[in-house]
Amino acid sequence: MTHLEELLAVAPSRISEAMTIAELDALDAEFVGRSSAIAAARRSLGEIADGAERGLAGKSINQIATQISALLDARRSDLLGAQESRRLSEDAVDVTLPGRRIPRGTHHLVQSTMDEIVDIFVGLGYTVATGPEAETEYYNFTALNIPRTHPSRLESDTLYLDYGGKKDEVLLRTHTSPMQARYMEKHDPPTFVVVPGRVFRSDAVDATHSPVFTQLEGLAVDTNITLADLKGTLASFAQQFFGTDTKVKFIPHYFPFTEPSAEMHAYTNGRWIELLGCGMVNPAVFENVGYDPAVYTGFAFGMGMERMAMVRHGITDLRTLLASDRRVLEQYR
Ligand code: DAH
Repeated sequence: MTHLEELLAVAPSRISEAMTIAELDALDAEFVGRSSAIAAARRSLGEIADGAERGLAGKSINQIATQISALLDARRSDLLGAQESRRLSEDAVDVTLPGRRIPRGTHHLVQSTMDEIVDIFVGLGYTVATGPEAETEYYNFTALNIPRTHPSRLESDTLYLDYGGKKDEVLLRTHTSPMQARYMEKHDPPTFVVVPGRVFRSDAVDATHSPVFTQLEGLAVDTNITLADLKGTLASFAQQFFGTDTKVKFIPHYFPFTEPSAEMHAYTNGRWIELLGCGMVNPAVFENVGYDPAVYTGFAFGMGMERMAMVRHGITDLRTLLASDRRVLEQYR
């Protein structure tokens, strides 16, 4: 057996053992490359003097080279095919797998309650305004006829801000009522406005208190507005929000900015429950904002959104609304 025939004998098993393209490239160089035994044999053909003999030798070298090249090519295409199918299977996407769902967000119950109540008043012809949460003592108290000595002005009730060096001038509004005065200063009657917003009090959190909560203020001013308008409007609100058969009653109360003043109670879930404060706008407030109390009358009301949500849904602890517990939130999508 010539040297090249020996090569041809070992080539198939060596080639089939090549597991990578790089290994195969090395074999390619070794078997048929420029410094291979085959290339050397070709180069030494010139040393054979006899033409016929040289032709035969050349033919046999070519045969061996062709066979080895064919083995290399076949192995190469096997390896490339395997590489490709490995890549495909690694890239494979199982389109039948269920996707990862992004949980759907939702408004908090207090926000959706507020949106719904605002909508009810918009339906009754009211516009919507908002005011600052950091408020001056003037709008929060003085403009609303709340006397200098009123206990609600104390630091035990009101959170004062250290703002601009003037003590006790700026505070976190304790109710949305200051917007009554701000709005009337800027708008002539007829005035029909509701003001949703966050309010702040110096209270610790418990089942019925929170230092931050949400109110909706309402104000209606025109010529000839009467207590009957107040009662009709607020009864209509209660029936739209709590159900058409909701009964309401008005119990005399005191607020400095309304005269007379009342609490509206509603009969829901088998009992009477206090819902909101209201009254006929005190002429002193009209004087403060430049409305002529001889010409205009009006009513005002203020209600807590957390309270409305709690009454409607039978929630007994305010902290339920503060905790952001998904088990609670998901019930009120
Ligand atoms: N501002 C009152 C409070 O926070 C609620 C209120 C009562 C608002 C009577 C009014 C009103 O407009 O007329 O307790």
